[in-house]
Amino acid sequence: MPFQSPNRILVTGGAGYIGSHMALRLAESGHSVTIVDNCYRGHSAAVDAVRAAAPNSAIAFERISVNDTDHLTRIMRDGRIDAVIHFAALAYVGESVERPLDYWRTNLGGTLSLLTAMESAGVRRLIFSSTCATYGIPDAAAIPIEESCPQHPINPYGAAKLAAERAIADHQNSILRGGGDFAYAALRYFNVIGSDPRGSIGEDHRPESHLVPSCLLAILGRRDSLCIMGDDYPTNDGTCVRDFVDVGDLCEAHLAALHALTAREALMLNVGTGRGHSVLEVLQACERVCGHAVPAVRGSRRAGDPPKLVSNPAQIQRILHWSPAVATLDESISNAWRWMSAHPNGYG
Ligand SMILES: NC(=O)c1ccc[n+]([C@@H]2O[C@H](COP(=O)([O-])OP(=O)(O)OC[C@H]3O[C@@H](n4cnc5c(N)ncnc54)[C@H](O)[C@@H]3O)[C@@H](O)[C@H]2O)c1
Repeated sequence: MPFQSPNRILVTGGAGYIGSHMALRLAESGHSVTIVDNCYRGHSAAVDAVRAAAPNSAIAFERISVNDTDHLTRIMRDGRIDAVIHFAALAYVGESVERPLDYWRTNLGGTLSLLTAMESAGVRRLIFSSTCATYGIPDAAAIPIEESCPQHPINPYGAAKLAAERAIADHQNSILRGGGDFAYAALRYFNVIGSDPRGSIGEDHRPESHLVPSCLLAILGRRDSLCIMGDDYPTNDGTCVRDFVDVGDLCEAHLAALHALTAREALMLNVGTGRGHSVLEVLQACERVCGHAVPAVRGSRRAGDPPKLVSNPAQIQRILHWSPAVATLDESISNAWRWMSAHPNGYG
C-alpha cells in the first residue's frame, strides 16, 4: 500500500553538491524542504543559491551535525517531516583509508543517529545515498554490475556505506516484526556529474578529486594539471572506465523512489546509465565542450581503482521506470561548465 504522498522532506547534506541539487528539485516540485548540514564539506552559500533559485519555496536550514540525535529529533518533530533523504557523509576513498574512524563515525554513526531520530519522531521513509564503492572490485564477468553482485568493499568509505545499508535493513526488520511500517531505498550511485542546467548551483568539493570538475578546474587554471592515474588498464585506451550519471537524472531517481515507496518496502537500486566512458573520453569531452585543452599528465595507478565500473540499470528502469534523460557526456559537462565558468572560485 503506498504511503500518503510525502511533502515535508528533510535533506541531510543539503549544502553539498548532490544534496543542494536535490533540495532545489524538491522545492521546485512543491515540497517543503528542511536542510541539515554542518557545512564541514558543504557551503551555506549553496543553500542561499538554492533559495535564490526557488524564491517562493519553503526551505529551512539547520546547521548541525547528523550525529546530534536530540537536535535532529526536534527538527523532525517540529517540521512534521514525512521523509528523509540522507546525503550527509564524508566521501573521499583515499581520505577514508587515512582517517577511517571519521568515516565510520560520520557515515555509519551519522546514519545510526538519523535512524534513532526518525524512530523517536515517527518518520517512516528514508532514501539513503549508497555507492558502487560497496561492490569493491567486481569480477570482470560481473560487469555491468547488478544489485545482486556480491558487496566486498575494499576501503573504509565503501565498508561504512555497506554497514549503513545493513543497519537500515536490520532496523526496518525490527519495525516490521513489531507490526509497524518503515520503507527505504538505498540508491547505489555510480559517478555523478553535471550541474543545474540553468547554472544556479554547481559542484564545489574541497578538495576536488572528481574527474569532470578536476578537468574543468585545470582548464580554468585553478589547478596545474589533471593527473591521469594509470593508462595500462585492460580497457580500450588503457584508462579506467566509469559510468557517469547526470546529477539532474540522479535527483529524478530520488524523487521517483520517494513517491513509489510502499509502506514496508526495501529497494536496493543501482543508479547509473549502463554506459561506460574512459578517463580519456571524459577529458576529450571536456575539451570539446570548453574549447580548450585540458592540461594533463600521466601518472601511475591509484591503489584500489577497479579497471571498469559500469552499472546494469535494468532494475531501476523496471521498478521506478527511471532512465537517464541527459543523453550525452557533453550535455552534462556543458551544464557543469556553465556554473563553473561563471563561478571560477566556486561558492567563494
Ligand atoms: N559525488 C558522487 O559521485 C557520489 C557517488 C556515490 C555516492 N555519493 C554519495 O552521495 C552523497 C553526497 O555526495 P556529494 O558528492 O554531494 O558530497 P558533498 O561532500 O558535496 O556533500 C556531503 C555533505 O554532507 C555534509 N556533512 C558531512 N558530514 C556531516 C555531518 N556529520 N552532519 C551534517 N552534514 C554533514 C557536508 O558538509 C556536505 O555538505 C554522499 O553520501 C556520497 O557518499 C556521491
